[in-house]
Amino acid sequence: MENKDIKRYTVTTALPYANGPVHIGHLAGVYVPADIYVRYLRANHRDVAFIGGSDEHGVPITIKARKEGLSPQNIVDRYHNIIKKSFEDFGISFDIYSRTSSETHHKTASEFFKKLYDEDKFIVKTNEQYYDADNKMFLADRYITGTCPHCGFEKAYGDQCESCGTSLSATDLINPKSAVSGNVPVMKETKHWYLPLDKYEPWLKEWIIDGHKNDWRPNVYGQCKSWIDSGLHPRAVTRDLDWGVKVPIEDAEGKVLYVWFDAPIGYISATKELTPDWEKYWKSKDTKLVHFIGKDNIVFHCIIFPTMLKAEGSYILPDNVPSNEFLNLEGDKISTSRNWAVWLHEYLEEFPDKQDVLRYVLTANAPETKDNDFTWKDFQTRNNSELVAILGNFVNRALVLTKKYFDGHIPLRGELTDFDKTTLEEIKTFPLRISSALETYHFREGLRELMNLARLGNKYLADTEPWKVWKTDPKRVETILNISLQIVANLSILGNPFLPFSMDKLRKMINFDIIDWNKSGDLDLLEEGHKLNKPSLLFDQIDDKAIENQINKLMETKKANILSEAKAKPAKPNIEFDDFAKMDIRTGTILEAEKVTKTKKLLKFLIDTGIDKRTVVSGIAEYYKPEELIGKQVSIIVNLAPKKLRGIESRGMILMAEDADGKLVFVAPVSDVKNGSEVK
Ligand code: MF3
Ligand code: ZN
Repeated sequence: MENKDIKRYTVTTALPYANGPVHIGHLAGVYVPADIYVRYLRANHRDVAFIGGSDEHGVPITIKARKEGLSPQNIVDRYHNIIKKSFEDFGISFDIYSRTSSETHHKTASEFFKKLYDEDKFIVKTNEQYYDADNKMFLADRYITGTCPHCGFEKAYGDQCESCGTSLSATDLINPKSAVSGNVPVMKETKHWYLPLDKYEPWLKEWIIDGHKNDWRPNVYGQCKSWIDSGLHPRAVTRDLDWGVKVPIEDAEGKVLYVWFDAPIGYISATKELTPDWEKYWKSKDTKLVHFIGKDNIVFHCIIFPTMLKAEGSYILPDNVPSNEFLNLEGDKISTSRNWAVWLHEYLEEFPDKQDVLRYVLTANAPETKDNDFTWKDFQTRNNSELVAILGNFVNRALVLTKKYFDGHIPLRGELTDFDKTTLEEIKTFPLRISSALETYHFREGLRELMNLARLGNKYLADTEPWKVWKTDPKRVETILNISLQIVANLSILGNPFLPFSMDKLRKMINFDIIDWNKSGDLDLLEEGHKLNKPSLLFDQIDDKAIENQINKLMETKKANILSEAKAKPAKPNIEFDDFAKMDIRTGTILEAEKVTKTKKLLKFLIDTGIDKRTVVSGIAEYYKPEELIGKQVSIIVNLAPKKLRGIESRGMILMAEDADGKLVFVAPVSDVKNGSEVK
């Protein structure tokens, strides 16, 4: 549908699970781009419903509740409020931020299921599923853990392996265990309702593979295509659990809707809570529905939820599903359980009033096409050399000079030079450059264009040098500053979707209250004689100390993780004493040490074992300089079969252990013993 036929927009953002606070990954992947889009639409007078909320069902929440000895409702109440506040604090301008434990939602999700059930859209199957006999419960999804059959990760869940990302069925797991008791589960019969995705395959092919080849992002389209190409199967939409939306039919005692069935219906429930006129946002062909999500949500929003909507029959389908890849943090995957994240509420404790800096960095570095890395150094650089040095600097120079020369009044634009004329022409091109990027969900590019306008302003001032011209030709300075101030006013409109807090501040400084996008590109936004307010800095430098603090905080986390993970590694199965006695471990002394050329990790030693002098190669070059090891006593297994490493025969192994930083340290006698003494 052409844009001009679109009458309104329904923009949804993935509902975060209410089992933890939100971090920069959430903001970068979903909420900042969605908010930019919505603020842009509103500035264009489009009718928008911007929908968010917390996803309050699902197994991880009940597991957390069990661990803390609280009810699931306690858990979701706590995190719903924290999450909601974080979004408000960062200016995510939802029309409603609801939650799936709300009454309206339970009713809406129930009725949705009931309608599909009454119209025979489900199939019902009885099969055997894992059951924890001691706790008398079925082990749905994350209640079961085991080894991933694809990558060997030992803590994969019954629905997904978080290490390799494969989606799994509980029965795929090797060595399945109950997450509640650790027990080996038994099989028990149970009945569930399935959405027969296979029946919708021809329609999905037409709608996605043929219909959205060119307008959905390649990562989104590619994932959908590979799912569809590998064949769709019926998917269970109910679970044996006691937390969630009760299955609203007879013969379904102890069953709830699968969280991925009820949660997306949450978008609809929230819209109902927002307005009695909700139907036009969901059922009217001239409404454009856009889902902002992260990449782990693609199949649910592109295949499963649309199939549900199609089966129901009265709803529109998403026009686009802009989905980002993942944001890593300092080179490692963001992880809630390992506390490897920058939490939004903690960020604001360190950097109150710097919401826009984070919005800026996360957009400039958004993982739109591939996974990206957030580093504190990059954060500092982008603040200091982009926000401060380009945007802030330009605005500040224009405003301070106007205050100085004209007491803060907009001067007259007089005769124009050719350079003025080309500059003015160029200003006019920016609204469209930014719009085109935003309409097609290219937020990084939109932001880049905004900064290009600020660059244009800087260049204009640098080339015209009003501070020099003032002495000889003050009339000329009037024109220069008039043009500069028109750029400032344009920036305040065009920058508003990206940097709402700073642009608000800027509008106050220039005594201007327009955010109407249609006014951008106008070269007389600030009229001659208009009085500016007192200028102040839009952005401040972030110093090295602040950045070091953040990096140190992460280093502490890393240490704590290494320690706790080391602690957590379970013992290997028992061995007999005879097995141990086969190992011949002796004390020895390092006589010579040198780096193995062309390797990063290997050191070659000559060791006096008391029995002989022999060569041993060890992978510890990253941690030690060869010369500092000479004369050091070590423990060495002397009867390990020799092994060639880089052409050198290594005869034995030096015993090492990992410290909190992951560095290997020697396991050696604490006081001198003679070489060749047996370790027993
Ligand atoms: N809670 C899910 C997640 O964090 C997202 C749910 S999106 C919705 O991955 F569509 F189901 F609401
Ligand atoms: Zn795996």
